[in-house]
Amino acid sequence: MKLYRCRICGETYLGHGVPTECPFCGADAEYFVLTEAYPEDANDVQLTEVERADLETSIELETSNTRFYLAMAARKDNPKLSSAYKRLAKIEAEHCSVFSKLAKMPKPADLLEPGTELGGWDADIDESARRETRASALYVEFAGRATSPRLVEVWTAVSRVEATHIELDAIAKRYV
Ligand SMILES: [Fe+2]
Ligand SMILES: [Fe+2]
Repeated sequence: MKLYRCRICGETYLGHGVPTECPFCGADAEYFVLTEAYPEDANDVQLTEVERADLETSIELETSNTRFYLAMAARKDNPKLSSAYKRLAKIEAEHCSVFSKLAKMPKPADLLEPGTELGGWDADIDESARRETRASALYVEFAGRATSPRLVEVWTAVSRVEATHIELDAIAKRYV
């Protein structure tokens, strides 16, 4: 058994090897390091004004998405989909946590309060795909204009995670 840390979310993973994606934030396996190699000061970044504003946008977006997925997960009529979107809510909440640490701000107080869902599963899965498409594109843009290598790393990694969520939305349609 070894101790690993995810460079993106900072969580510890216990295992005999690393999984293909971080179970907490969804980042690729390439971001896992042995715990002794993890830089404890990873999120000590001097922010430019643009980076701060982009982090605040990221926090708002992750909060809105977390709350949207919690609302989907709270439905009682489709346990498979509820379970899948509960997982998504937890991953988005982890992203919110990372961005809040980088911005040196507390997590939003309403982060884990379910939002108001739109309607049926079909409509909400479509809405999820729109949200993930927007998030993924926005983080590419933020990574492109960030000057801190740490912020470039985080936005790039999280953008890729959001892109995998679009794949989940396509799979979810089979279970409606
Ligand atoms: Fe992670
Ligand atoms: Fe996210």
